[in-house]
Order: sequence, then C-alpha cells, then structure tokens
Amino acid sequence: MLEIAKKSFSDKGYLVVKGGLNRGLLEHAQSVALEELKAACSHHSLHSSFNDNDPTEKQFHDIILSLISGTGLAPYDIQKDVWKRFIREDMPESFLSSSPIVDHLKELIGSDLQYSQGAALTISIPAGQSNSENYLFKKYHQEVWSGSSLGNVQVWTPVFQSSTDGQITVIEGSHKWGIVPNKNRQPIELPEHNETSTSLEYGDVILFHPLLLHRSSSLPEECLVRMGWPMMIRNWRYTSRPNFDERWTWKSFYSSAHSEIELALGNAYLTPYRIKDILSP
Ligand SMILES: [Fe+2]
Repeated sequence: MLEIAKKSFSDKGYLVVKGGLNRGLLEHAQSVALEELKAACSHHSLHSSFNDNDPTEKQFHDIILSLISGTGLAPYDIQKDVWKRFIREDMPESFLSSSPIVDHLKELIGSDLQYSQGAALTISIPAGQSNSENYLFKKYHQEVWSGSSLGNVQVWTPVFQSSTDGQITVIEGSHKWGIVPNKNRQPIELPEHNETSTSLEYGDVILFHPLLLHRSSSLPEECLVRMGWPMMIRNWRYTSRPNFDERWTWKSFYSSAHSEIELALGNAYLTPYRIKDILSP
C-alpha cells in the first residue's frame, strides 16, 4: 500500500491518506478550536454569536463571521490563538505521529521528522458572506515560493467543513515543471493543464510536494466557513536546502534510531561513561 502511495506522490505530486486523521483527534481539534473562539467572543462581548445546541460546523461558522464583523479582525488573526492552543496541547505531534500518517511520511522522506510551528490554520469564508481580506493564496502557487525546501512535504486536512466544495485544487504532475515563473505570488504563465479537485472528507489527509501547483477554490455561498489544518514537514537530516526555512521554529515529532543513539551519547566526542543514566540504570 505504501508503494502505491509513494508512486502517486512521485507521479502526480501528491497522495491522499483516507481516514489518516483519527476521529477522536479531529473531534478534539474541533472542540478545542470552538473553546478558544468562544473565549474570544466573550472577550469582545459577542455573547449571542453562537448557539451551543447547533452542530459544531454551524457554531464555528457563526462565531467566525461574528468575530470578523464585530471586531474587524482578519481570519488570519482570529486563528492565531487556536493554532497556539493546538501546539500547547501537542496536537500536531499526535496527528503526525499516528499511523498511517507517520508511515507515509517515513516512506517519502525518512524518519527524522519535524513540523514547522510557524504554520497558520486556514479559514475560508463563503463567497458573498464577508468582504474581509482572505489571507490564503487564491491563485495557483508552489510552496517553494514561500520558502519551503524541495525535500519538505506539505500536509493538509479539513477541521470544519459543511461540504467538500471549494477545497484545494491541484495540477497533477506540475511538481515536475520546476519553479513556475511568478510575480506578486501569482504565476506569470501556466502551460496547458488539467485541474483536479481533492474533495477531502473529514479525516482524509493530503500530502503534497512543495513544487505542486495548488490553490484554494472559492467556497460557494451556501457552504459554511471552512477551517483547514496545513503543516509543513521536513527531515532535518537533509542538508541540501537551497532556501530559508532555518529561520523558522521547528519541533521534532519522530526520531530515527541514529538520532536516538545520538541523544543517548549526548555529544560528538563520544565521551565514555557519561553520568547520565548510569546513576539510575
Ligand atoms: Fe499553499
């Protein structure tokens, strides 16, 4: 199965792990996000912006629109506390370390894995429901434009959504085009191409190459607000990084046997009989 997934990643530039995010963790992510956002509503005295008896997707939708209109905050600023809470609760590690996600990542880029803590949850507002600036790139783009190294893998999964409409659209095979000439975060010109909608259900996770051209389609007016959970993954042992991601903050969530041995040894001089662990075998 991993071989087929690897071939999909190699040929098309992405693979989809169906049900890769387990239900328990998804529901935990939803409740944590709602908790943080309700606290934000209380802070801004927007007490009637949600009904606790509504489905979680409807509550999320109402809260986001209320926060945007009631505070003037952009979706990017609204999601910050939610993402910080995710990190505080080690949710990225739980998500990424669980099988089959870590199995696929190991198959693609090896075992010494880290995720970038400088990520942002993505909030998509349905067409016509808000005139606030959307901080997502709507046009086709490659993650390398934003500093991702070629050896990284981009991960994305939905956290709140009412349908699979208006999700990530990709151009299969574009990861083998190299760097697409761009200006102001938009391609100057694209070769003839076909578009593929990903249509991920709850729990489905897409893993894609940093050169794969992708964009978020516009969310139809009848849909509820969507929140997606993107993450950038790297193997820190890859030394060929012709880019700038060393400036970001990274956290390890999985280690190879070599790294565990290095941690036990503690230093590059291989000092014999280190005190650590000897006093308490
Ligand atoms: Fe992107």
